[in-house]
Amino acid sequence: MDGQHDGPRREEIPAAISAQTEEFARRLATADPSRLAEAALATVGSLHALIAALRPTGEEFRIAIDFITEVGHYADSRRQEWVLLADVLGVSSLIEDQNSARPRGATPNTVAGPFYRADVPETALGASISRDGKGEPLAVTGRVAGLDGQPLAGAIVEVWQANAEGLYENQEPDLQPEFNLRGRFRTDPQGRFHFLSVKPKGYMLPADGPVGRLMAMLGISLERPAHIHFRITANGFETLTTHVFDRSDPAIGRDAIFGVKPELMAEFRALPLNGGRRRHALDLNLVLCPERQGESAHAGRK
Ligand SMILES: [Fe+2]
Repeated sequence: MDGQHDGPRREEIPAAISAQTEEFARRLATADPSRLAEAALATVGSLHALIAALRPTGEEFRIAIDFITEVGHYADSRRQEWVLLADVLGVSSLIEDQNSARPRGATPNTVAGPFYRADVPETALGASISRDGKGEPLAVTGRVAGLDGQPLAGAIVEVWQANAEGLYENQEPDLQPEFNLRGRFRTDPQGRFHFLSVKPKGYMLPADGPVGRLMAMLGISLERPAHIHFRITANGFETLTTHVFDRSDPAIGRDAIFGVKPELMAEFRALPLNGGRRRHALDLNLVLCPERQGESAHAGRK
């Protein structure tokens, strides 16, 4: 600052990067303290620090503006390129980690992703969720318990996954039957559940938009390792929304949306061939933590 403004004293502005940073803080100083003002100050300060570090040219600034403009053009009711951008930058995952940190021993929460459907009818334990029979059979067994190891009877287990081609039912509604590879089960008195499915394949995030092009220029993979999504709801417990990943998938170490955690990697065990057909089995332990005071049953949902 050149001293001609009546702003706050220099020592009141931590780590001011530039005259613009100080002036922005001075303009905000007259506003009532709020979360918005706090976020604006932190965001603008970080942006100015970035500019000071990178020293972009005018041409580079124009390219950046063009990029974010194009991201906006790819965002509508059917496709959300902004969410995709947040996902591949690790922003969605970081926010999820901060908002749904679980105590040691509890299964970690992850984002639900875009393919969840809430309207899947409940089916009896043991049913198959493969409604077209395509793919290598997979038998899933699991147990839902609280942090103290107590089995949770009557918990609702929702499951959804991609097919053997890496595609969800709602991505190709004309090709896959309604509710294919989606299920809703209720745990038995021992907190157990089991159902039949097919082995899912991993998939790529959309590569045809500005986010995909940016990641290609950076050499960053858009692959997601094969996984099955779960959501477990039980009275008195925080709802758990998570994925279980195939630890043998070659992309396990480079999930495009940062969802893989050691506790979420599982073995899709190969079983003896059945009439020449490959079969697999997956066994899971899912641990919920008790609902904390002042939090609703929706805690942990996205
Ligand atoms: Fe998924």
